[in-house]
Amino acid sequence: MRQIEQRAAQAYRERFHQEPALIASAPGRINLIGEHTDYNGGFVLPCAISRRVAVAIGPGALVADSSRPVPQRSEAKRVSIPRPMEAKLYSADFEEERPLTAKKEGSWADCPGGVVWAMQERGDSVSAFQATFAGNVPLGGGLSSSAAIEAATALALSAFFHLDIARRDLAVLCQQAENAFVGVNSGIMDQCASLLCKEGMALRIDCRSLEAEQVPLDLASIGLTLLVCDTQVSRKLGNTGYNDRRRMCEQAASTLGVKQLRDAKVSDLDRLSGEELRRARHVVTENERVLQAVEALGRRDFSRFGQLMYDSHRSMRGDYEISTPELDTFVELAAASDALGARLTGAGFGGCAIALMREADVEGLKSTVLRHFQQRGFQQPVFYVFQPAQGAEIVLNAKG
Ligand code: GLA
Repeated sequence: MRQIEQRAAQAYRERFHQEPALIASAPGRINLIGEHTDYNGGFVLPCAISRRVAVAIGPGALVADSSRPVPQRSEAKRVSIPRPMEAKLYSADFEEERPLTAKKEGSWADCPGGVVWAMQERGDSVSAFQATFAGNVPLGGGLSSSAAIEAATALALSAFFHLDIARRDLAVLCQQAENAFVGVNSGIMDQCASLLCKEGMALRIDCRSLEAEQVPLDLASIGLTLLVCDTQVSRKLGNTGYNDRRRMCEQAASTLGVKQLRDAKVSDLDRLSGEELRRARHVVTENERVLQAVEALGRRDFSRFGQLMYDSHRSMRGDYEISTPELDTFVELAAASDALGARLTGAGFGGCAIALMREADVEGLKSTVLRHFQQRGFQQPVFYVFQPAQGAEIVLNAKG
């Protein structure tokens, strides 16, 4: 068991004085290429990282709470709505217990709460449980900490209540939790990545059909690695231009008379102008870059792959306008240090950038970046080194 899973289990024992019945965990992700394409029905290529959220779960006590109305049971939908007392959520990181709430309350518990809500919306039968959470995915930095907590919760509940929900459907319900309950209008990439990625692989996702293909990416055997630079510029999706970008993409698709920008070709772009043109040009060319990147990986042509990463960053900086001086500086310094490729990853407007590079060059680039960031008066960045890691999994199921 990983350390983070042991921490969730230990918290369960301390909090509830019992052994958990089931332990699951799910990772954060980095996206290698394919940014802002998911909500346009396009292609993405993320991989999971070794930072995870773990959940330990067991049966809850059926505590009667006379002050609350008895939950409605709809036989048709097999819905069993837990009373607030029936689900206890404890975070080892925040050292606090929260009940399940029927709507968003602005805390970490919104993610598991949203998953329960989305399961009930589907008609899945979820009843009393108690759970402890422990995680080491950096919060709010663009490595998908919320998708990790949602994915871990969804996988754990599905197994614990014998719901047998397919992973792809779990990703969809986690996205619903994020969109409709947590209130962040994200696409499907992060949840799919957390639930479907495998160690040593990138995942090519067709975000329209949700077809997902494992793409071998064994970087370690050839001395390559992924360096992540968290610029520490906080990136609140709701407060940024994420929703504006989405809206502009829909507008461009409607001008072109296509369902989504996935359906547009480079030759169609002549019919657009101004902001619509710039946003659509990023999406249309980015989709092509993902497909070319997958082909390059098939040939083990990492220098072509890296070139596509640089092209992707240029497109996000110029056309999609989601980069920052910090992210651009990292990418420039990575290029000057001979990294094969580098780009911002995730939503942009702050957060993280990645570089695909030789392991031997990592320390050199880190100190160069630290020096330049300090000279320019930027926040001190935080670095992580990752290899493509394992997606969500159940690591203990005492019920079998
Ligand atoms: C965020 C969203 C994803 C995706 C990326 C941009 O991470 O959660 O759905 O849209 O931004 O590629």
